[in-house]
Amino acid sequence: MSPATGTTLARPVTRVGEAVDGRAANAPLIIGRSAAIREVCALAERVAAGDAKVLITGESGVGKDLLAQFIHAHSSRAARPFVPVNCAALAETLLESELFGHVKGSFTGAFRDKVGKLELAHQGTVFLDEVGEMSLHMQALLLRFLEGGEVQPVGSDRPGVKVDVRVLSATNKDLTDLVAASRFREDLMFRINVVRIHVPPLRDRREDIRALTEHVLASAGRTVTFTETALKALERYRWPGNVRELQNLVERLIWTAPRELVDDPDLPAQIRTVRAAVLPARERRRQLADDLYAGLASRALSFWAHVHVLFMNRDITRNDLRGLVRRGLSETRGNFRAVVKLFGMPPEDYKRFLNFLTTHDCMVDFRPFRAGRQEETLRPTTPLPGRHPEDPDEGAQARDGYDVPGEDPED
Ligand SMILES: Nc1ncnc2c1ncn2[C@@H]1O[C@H](COP(=O)(O)OP(=O)(O)OP(=O)(O)O)[C@@H](O)[C@H]1O
Ligand SMILES: [Mg+2]
Repeated sequence: MSPATGTTLARPVTRVGEAVDGRAANAPLIIGRSAAIREVCALAERVAAGDAKVLITGESGVGKDLLAQFIHAHSSRAARPFVPVNCAALAETLLESELFGHVKGSFTGAFRDKVGKLELAHQGTVFLDEVGEMSLHMQALLLRFLEGGEVQPVGSDRPGVKVDVRVLSATNKDLTDLVAASRFREDLMFRINVVRIHVPPLRDRREDIRALTEHVLASAGRTVTFTETALKALERYRWPGNVRELQNLVERLIWTAPRELVDDPDLPAQIRTVRAAVLPARERRRQLADDLYAGLASRALSFWAHVHVLFMNRDITRNDLRGLVRRGLSETRGNFRAVVKLFGMPPEDYKRFLNFLTTHDCMVDFRPFRAGRQEETLRPTTPLPGRHPEDPDEGAQARDGYDVPGEDPED
């Protein structure tokens, strides 16, 4: 395991979109080597030149805020304000006053006039973050503003003030779905979505993981190095929280790792577990089950947040999951309720857990574990059919989704 990188970068990190002229001197650095992130930045630089409204989409933590700042910094408005508004953070009336301002006395608590963010952003850029969370009433007000460019503060009866702002928006929701569910106005969606830039999740641009890690290490100013094995594990993990999750993890490791050399065992269990993917199938399965088991038992992992997600994303197989359940049954002598507890779930998750196993063909026969026949743990378990031939109660529950009152496989 050779040290691969440290605070001194092993090789230059591509800083996509680095200042190409004076305007972009304050542009945030968007780190990445992948073709996907390069394309995103190239498109962002092109749209920055004009005033087109841009909708930035992508999962949480992919860098939507960063990209909005990047577009502003590369635009002719760069010297004017960039004003972010989080549309999800405020109740409807407060959001209205936040965007349009209010006059003194217009509502309880309006002690003085307040200038709205749209006016504050005059000649600059307003960034409507989490735009999909706006109420229908707010959507109507925003649409009116986008059509006329006028700001009318809450409670004011004077004519509205014309403002010149560029509107960027972001969402991690699918606006088309929200339109279909009548929760978002179609006309507004078209208005704000003149250009759409989608930032792909980190797992779809794994080449960026190393560059981002190196960048965080370099900014921390501490001599911490990651081994090649640790970096490879980071590259294999799915990063449901995207760049934010990676950044947080690397920062945490920089300050908490016992040595200056961060190796695979120093990584959290949910990241280490994926390492097992390179081992031969049987060994891999046993190791994975052991890792997942240790992670759950120590509470470093959560069954629903980690194991369930790994399974649904196909990072672990049915056999892996069955292996984990067998470990649990072996430990509890075949008691599913105790397995639920052992895996860190509250007792009320019992039915959900069994339903999940049944639905995905991962149910394991608990009886051999009751009888203490530990060797059964090594045998692949035949998935239970709708009705288990020797256990009518369990079969009924499997068939009926465990909604039969009073029926319980172990009780
Ligand atoms: N390519 C990148 N280069 C450098 N830093 C990045 C990159 N992408 C994201 N980050 C950093 O990751 C963190 C999360 O990014 P950001 O807040 O822009 O994500 P987001 O998509 O807006 O997330 P959310 O949907 O939760 O609001 C920030 O600290 C940001 O600076
Ligand atoms: Mg954001």
